[in-house]
Amino acid sequence: MEFKELIAKRRSVRAYAEGREIDNDLIREIISEAYQAPSWKNSQTARYYIANTPESIEKVRNAMPEFNKMNSNNAALIIATFVKDISGFNAGTAQNELSNKWGAYDLGLNNAYFILAAKERGLDTLIMGIRDAAMLRNEFGIPKTEQIVSVIALGYGEKQPAPRADRPVDEVAKFL
Ligand SMILES: Cc1cc2nc3c(=O)[nH]c(=O)nc-3n(C[C@H](O)[C@H](O)[C@H](O)COP(=O)(O)O)c2cc1C
Repeated sequence: MEFKELIAKRRSVRAYAEGREIDNDLIREIISEAYQAPSWKNSQTARYYIANTPESIEKVRNAMPEFNKMNSNNAALIIATFVKDISGFNAGTAQNELSNKWGAYDLGLNNAYFILAAKERGLDTLIMGIRDAAMLRNEFGIPKTEQIVSVIALGYGEKQPAPRADRPVDEVAKFL
């Protein structure tokens, strides 16, 4: 798919087809492409925890509010985290006021590549920031050294959302 078409077609999908399994190797490929994203000093602190079995998916779903549960039904669920105190840091010292927000910045870039790499393979996604991080940490033993950020639903979309109205470029960008 042409890049222009890919970014136009990628939308958050909130309805997934039942009974269409996703091979773990396909998820590995997507993560490998996501990892082409830039990161602070190439620190590569993004981490993924993949729930792609009915049991593990159910456990992730327990840490989500009803609307996100409903919207991601039938999808694999991927917990996205980053290793703290590395991106934006030099030998343990924050390099500027953003501190660990640089780790979240890097993870966001990585996730952006992830959702586009998924779309390229005919898979749809929904990034969900509304989730119970403490429950996810307990359930899957995610270490305290990692910041849990989002849960990404990955599956075969059943309904493509309506086209989106975007802000005009001249409202959001100032040429200096
Ligand atoms: C950081 C982040 C958190 C989000 N959290 C949720 C969420 O918890 N539930 C949800 O339905 N959508 C969530 N979304 C999806 C946004 O609502 C969606 O990206 C936005 O409306 C733009 O639509 P589009 O992705 O279809 O272009 C989130 C998106 C981002 C980037």
